[in-house]
Formats: sequence, C-alpha cells, structure tokens
Amino acid sequence: MTFNFQAPSEIIFGSGKIDELVNIIKPKSENIIIIKGASNRFDYIFETLKSNGIDYSIYCVKNEPLIEDVDRAVTLAKTNLSNLVLGIGGGSVIDVAKAVGIMLLNPGEILDYLEVIGKGEKLTEPSIPTIIVPTTSGTGAEVTKNSVLKSIQHKRKVSMRSPEMIPKTVLIDPKLMLTLPSTTTTYTGMDALTQVIEPFISSLSNPFTDSLCRDAIPRAVDALVGLKEKPSDIKLREEMAYVSLMGGLALANAKLGAVHGFAGPIGGMFEIPHGLICAILLPNTIKVNIEAIESLGLEEDINKYNQLAKLISSDKNLTIRDLPKFLYDLNKKLEIPTLSHFGIKKSDLKEIVDLSKNSSSMKGNTVSLTETQMMNILESSL
Ligand SMILES: [Fe+2]
Repeated sequence: MTFNFQAPSEIIFGSGKIDELVNIIKPKSENIIIIKGASNRFDYIFETLKSNGIDYSIYCVKNEPLIEDVDRAVTLAKTNLSNLVLGIGGGSVIDVAKAVGIMLLNPGEILDYLEVIGKGEKLTEPSIPTIIVPTTSGTGAEVTKNSVLKSIQHKRKVSMRSPEMIPKTVLIDPKLMLTLPSTTTTYTGMDALTQVIEPFISSLSNPFTDSLCRDAIPRAVDALVGLKEKPSDIKLREEMAYVSLMGGLALANAKLGAVHGFAGPIGGMFEIPHGLICAILLPNTIKVNIEAIESLGLEEDINKYNQLAKLISSDKNLTIRDLPKFLYDLNKKLEIPTLSHFGIKKSDLKEIVDLSKNSSSMKGNTVSLTETQMMNILESSL
C-alpha cells in the first residue's frame, strides 16, 4: 500500500467558528486583501475585522473566476502591500483567492502557469499566507492545490496548480450557508456528492481517500434531499459542509472521473453552473462505466461499485444494477434538467469529447473510456 496525502495545515470546522476569524488573522497580518463574491451577505464580517484594527482592501469576483480577476486583484494587493489573502465565498472566489496568493510572489503573468492554453510552467515561489472561508458546500476548492480559471478569449476553463496553492488555513462554518439560495444549495450539493463518488471509484483511489468517501457518501443524499425541504436546518447544513470537505480532500489525492473530465470543457463553452453539469452527467457516466467494467470483467471495480450502491442509499438491498436508476430518480427529485435545456446540441458533442478526453479528471475515471463511450454519456444526457 502506498499513497501521498496533501491537505491544509489547519481545518477549523463548526457552526459559529466564524467568530474566531479575528483571532486567526491578527497574529498573522494587519493588512489583508479580501476576495469576495457579489453578495453583501458577509459584509458584517469585514466590519468586525475593521473594528479590531485589521486593514483590508476588497476585490469582488462578480461571477466566473476570470484570469482578469486575478490580474486586477494582484495589482490591488501589491499597491496596498497586503501580506495575507482572505477568500470568503463560493468556488469562484476561492479559485481567485488561491491564484492571487501564489501570483503575488511568482514572476511573470498567469498565462505562464496555466495548463493547456498557457505555458504550464512550474510555480517556483510559495504562496503568501491564505485563509479560505467557504460559503457554499460543494467545490472543495478550499483544500485543493489548483485554481480553475476561465479564459474568455479561449472559451476554456483551465487550471494552474502547485502544492503551494493548498490554503494554509481553512475555516468552515455551516452557519454561513444557511442563507444559500435553494438552487445553489442543490447544485453545489450535487457537486459535493459527485466529488465523494468519483474519487471512490477512481482508478487512483487509495485506502486513505476511500475512508473519507465511505464516511461521506451515506450522509450526502439525505442532506441534499433534506435541504430542499428544510434549507434552514443547521444539522443538514453541517452534514453537507462535511461531505463537501471530505470530497475536496479525496479528490485532491485520488483525482475524479469522467463527470469532471467533461465538466471543465462544458463549463468553458456554456454558461451552466458547475454543480449542475455534474448532476446532469453523473447517472449516465455511472451507467456507461458499469457497462464497461462488466464487459471487461473487472471484478475489483465491480466490487467497488457494489460498495457504492450499499453506501449511497438506506436501502441495503441496492446493488450495482440499481445505481443508475437511483441517480436518475435523485435528479428527478431535485428537478435537475438536461444539457439541451442550456442550448447544447448533438452537433456540439464531438468538440466536448475532443476537449475532454485528455483532461486531468478523465485520467482518474474507473476505466479508460473510448470516444464512443464518451459520446454515449453526452448523448444520453442531452
Ligand atoms: Fe466539482
């Protein structure tokens, strides 16, 4: 048995933990750059920092995490001599915050370091200290070593990565998620569910990441469905936040699979929330994967999918055969639409396959999929 496991130095988890933020920041810095989203829901936190003598400048990420956002925030941080990044928000905010932290000390421009569309050079300098406070439960970006940024010019979402980009401190307070809108809760929740399933059935899974997924998968569906009825239930918010964290730690160390392999290119080409893309593709990806491992007689993988069936539902009679239907039914319950709802046509699918087949996540898929199998997943999800 061999594996490496990378994670933040400190993860602080619990309802009300946001009250500890001042004490966490103060010994480290008195001049920070805050990266936040468009919402003003958390401005009260910044007021508390100010009243405790912590100076800050704020950069607001309006929507998707653009390369230009990182450029502008880095310029702002340099002008104000900031020596700590605080990212408070969802996945887009976290991706920008991590990229700002690493770009402050590394020379050159972002395209030097971006994969696929850039030079993909190695980041040699460390990140300045970065504290991340997620306000959604889904991406897991608070514990991973890459930032996914969007290039409008290239119509692509691509990564820059370095172990140095793993935030030093992560503070997860489920209370901050109580006011998350219903659709965002569902979409980010489906991302979290996908991110505890894909590392579990990944070709790169290991006993350490499996233990995280085994603990999280049974909690995920109950929390997702429960939050649709009771969005203010703090216990359910805690469960979802925990699942999201486990997913982030698992995917950072065991990769993902075909769902995320497709999600990057689709997210670059079309305006669809990431979690929603995952939700749409998950049932058909699982179905095609099962057909592939059964036709190849891969007993170890078949056993893993059977374990997944037992973990995901309270019905302990569920087997590998029932998994796709369970996931189709879950999508129906959560009112998940299909790809064609967003204007994706059959004629777009070849380009999506071409852009997806060499993605980092696709390499984690249980089995290597043929282009026909990949096309099959997309066609069934239209
Ligand atoms: Fe994801």
